Amino acid sequence: MKKAIISFAVSIVIGFGLGYLVFGVIMGDSDKQPQVAQTEPTEEKSTTEDQKEETKTETAAVDADNILNSKGCLGCHAVDKLGLKGGATGPDLSKAFTEVEGKHGKPIEEFLKEPTSAVMSSVIGGNPLTDEERTQVLDMLKQASEK
Ligand code: HEC
Repeated sequence: MKKAIISFAVSIVIGFGLGYLVFGVIMGDSDKQPQVAQTEPTEEKSTTEDQKEETKTETAAVDADNILNSKGCLGCHAVDKLGLKGGATGPDLSKAFTEVEGKHGKPIEEFLKEPTSAVMSSVIGGNPLTDEERTQVLDMLKQASEK
């Protein structure tokens, strides 16, 4: 009889054991399932708006960029009163606006059309000023004379 009791007891233990194991495995699995990490990587796209700084190119009147330079006058003339450096072949034109008539016998506007002097005759003869260019030259020389 003892053997029967022992084997019964053992089978119960084994049964409980197996049951416990199986149950434990199932419960363990079912326990794990809800523990799925809810880590959704949220990619925050950083919207970096390129703030383009518009570099303003200042169009300030440069001394070198004027009619006297573009027509080559500064190759022979300075205009001290306008801060324009130039060659020394011809006289400084700072006072030309007022002095030309007395010197050359005709107003500067006429002088620039048809110079009475030797060098300027060939300068203007070879590279005449248009009416617009002459006006610009006169403007500048007038400015210089008024300083
Ligand atoms: C090749 C050199 C040369 C160039 C270039 C030249 N000049 Fe002259 N300029 C002279 C000389 C030299 C005189 C002095 C008078 C003469 O000999 O003709 C003179 C005289 C003058 C005079 C009379 C000034 C005075 O006080 O007697 C004026 C105004 C003048 N030039 C304007 C100009 C202008 C405007 C330009 C450009 C379009 C110019 N010149 C280009 C050489 C030049």
